[in-house]
Amino acid sequence: MSQLFILTGAGISAESGLKTFRDSDGLWEGHRVEDVATRDAYARNPRMVHDFYNMRRSQLQTVEPNAAHRALGRLEKEWPGQLTLVTQNVDDLHERGGCSDVWHMHGELLKKRCELCNTVSACREDLSVFSECSQCGHAGGLRPHIVWFGEIPLLMDEIYERVSKADLFVSIGTSGVVYPAAGLAAEAKSQGARTVELNMTDTEVSPCFDELIHGPATESVPAWVDALLSEGL
Ligand code: APR
Repeated sequence: MSQLFILTGAGISAESGLKTFRDSDGLWEGHRVEDVATRDAYARNPRMVHDFYNMRRSQLQTVEPNAAHRALGRLEKEWPGQLTLVTQNVDDLHERGGCSDVWHMHGELLKKRCELCNTVSACREDLSVFSECSQCGHAGGLRPHIVWFGEIPLLMDEIYERVSKADLFVSIGTSGVVYPAAGLAAEAKSQGARTVELNMTDTEVSPCFDELIHGPATESVPAWVDALLSEGL
């Protein structure tokens, strides 16, 4: 059975109303995202980092999946067992768009992790430096289950394994500047996959792709899914 690997980034959620990281001024209350999303920032100013993620978590209640998320949900249903969906996004819009198996390589806003006992659990509430872990009972060790700059993304062994088996590798709405995600297209191509990039514009890694499709994700992704479903891999 042919295998399809899809990597998504912030661009797929942009038309749902979630800001991308690098398209606008890239600032959050005067901070560069790189200065908020790091272990050092958390050690220096945990309250600021909690505020940033609390804001982003509560924002999820105000946004809905868009036509691009729903098209991928349709694809998963039509082609069970053939699709690996890896996202760099920490929102839950793929799940709400109908995808049941989503690999969040940069973590999830709706999960928290205790740094003392390592338990990962659901998180709908705001976190603070006083939050207590329901597993070990300690306060102060709970952090968003997010991969910060300088940390190793989740599921990398499994991701490389799937990339090596991919017949078609598709990148949607990612700028291709954050590694290791940005290196996956070249890896897939070197292992024989056909590669397609869907984005508003060319990116840093566009030369790694056999085909470039430009346009907003809510238009390009449903059209691409329709073509794929009618033509096959
Ligand atoms: N449709 C398609 N693509 C879009 C759209 C849209 N409506 N809007 C923006 N884009 C594209 C932009 O052209 C850009 O290439 O989405 C990309 C967004 O890039 P980034 O903001 O850099 O987001 P991403 O690639 O997901 O960032 C990677 O960096 O900050 C970290 O951990 C964070 O997961 C994130 C990682």
